[in-house]
Amino acid sequence: MAKKETFNSSFGLLVALAGSAVGLGNLWRFPYLVGTNGGAAFIIIYLIFVFFLCLPIMYSEFVLGRRRHAGIKNIRILSVISAICVISFYSVVGGWSIGYLLKALTFSVVSPSSEYLEAVYQQTLGGAWSPIINAFIFIAITFSVLLFGVRKGIERYSKFMMPMLFLIIIAIASYSLTLPGASKGVSFLLKPDFSKVNADMLIAALGQAFFSLSLGCGTILTYASYTKKSENIIKTSSLSALSDTIFAIIAGLAIMPAVFAFGISPSEGPGLAFVTLPHIFSQMAGGQIIAILFFVTLFIAAVTSSISLLEVPVSYLMDKHRLSRKSALILSSSLVLCFAVLCALSFGLLKGVTVFGFSIFDGFDKLSANVLMPITGLAVVLYAGWMMKKKDFIDEITSGHTIKYKSLLLKYVYVSVKYIAPIVILLIMLMGIFYTSIKH
Ligand code: PHE
Repeated sequence: MAKKETFNSSFGLLVALAGSAVGLGNLWRFPYLVGTNGGAAFIIIYLIFVFFLCLPIMYSEFVLGRRRHAGIKNIRILSVISAICVISFYSVVGGWSIGYLLKALTFSVVSPSSEYLEAVYQQTLGGAWSPIINAFIFIAITFSVLLFGVRKGIERYSKFMMPMLFLIIIAIASYSLTLPGASKGVSFLLKPDFSKVNADMLIAALGQAFFSLSLGCGTILTYASYTKKSENIIKTSSLSALSDTIFAIIAGLAIMPAVFAFGISPSEGPGLAFVTLPHIFSQMAGGQIIAILFFVTLFIAAVTSSISLLEVPVSYLMDKHRLSRKSALILSSSLVLCFAVLCALSFGLLKGVTVFGFSIFDGFDKLSANVLMPITGLAVVLYAGWMMKKKDFIDEITSGHTIKYKSLLLKYVYVSVKYIAPIVILLIMLMGIFYTSIKH
């Protein structure tokens, strides 16, 4: 096999992983899911999934990816499908963030008029050309970062962007927390109402945990294959999961206090970031600047994630079909662009078209977060727990026993990979199928 590029340093790998994890999932999806699923109870269940279930899955993806097992060919193919599915709708939302950023820069997105904001939203989503052009620009930006490869593209871009993202979101949260009435938003995030827990919520929480940590899409598998043998897998992936979770909570603290301070319902759904927030910004001192900062954050976070997604098919085509990076990129982005156009049009020209009751856009979103990603995750843990020898798994996760971990931790990880993770993923997926068919 040709010698592969590797990340230059552990920090480079960490920011690339965190860059993949922190994205629209934290700023757009997490706050609206928290809002529609009753606040703190959702967050607690989400955290339990992240730490007890998803971390071991993440380590397993790392183990398989770095070991570059020949046996994982099918898992890689599944990952490629899953990644293409995600990036198809992700680039459309990334495109909206470009549209909103441009409007914020010309001071035309912050307004107290709900009708105006609703019209801007409808026009951004449902216009004839603008959603397609914006998605195209978004994919082109992702393309140009990846053209520079792992170190000069992914690593350099993430090193620069990630610290900036954290700084901006902390600044917005600090401001939001000083608004009069902000404490209601904080208690919404902290006081759980467990009567809201139901099958839908569990499925949404698991889907979100997978989505936010970038699991089951081959991104960890791919980045792991660019990782040196001496890298501490557990430390780096845990730190990246931790940064992702902290970022999601800070995003919640930036958004919810403002939502409550201005007496708006937290359950606005997907329009939260695009309609509710600009409305709130209009009532804040310096709201125009906050709007620019917010949409810059949204855009940068989306790009660091989409580069990790597009790298999955690119790396597959380079490894398996011996394509050059450039050809692999052209092929993958053209395919993604076709699907993205379909997703973009599902708010306009193709509005009435539904598949299994979902619009094309929702279909891609639900199919990836609730079906393909968990299935790929399931395949990863089944392979790591049942097809791979335990000795090999432990050997890889401890980098050839050069890194010492508490044996209790390793035992838990292994039990989780072998039994807990497959059972829980299966149960929740079955619950999803059963529950949805009852509801229909
Ligand atoms: N984790 C990213 C986010 O939160 C989305 C993503 C999913 C990226 C899967 C890569 C793989 O926005």
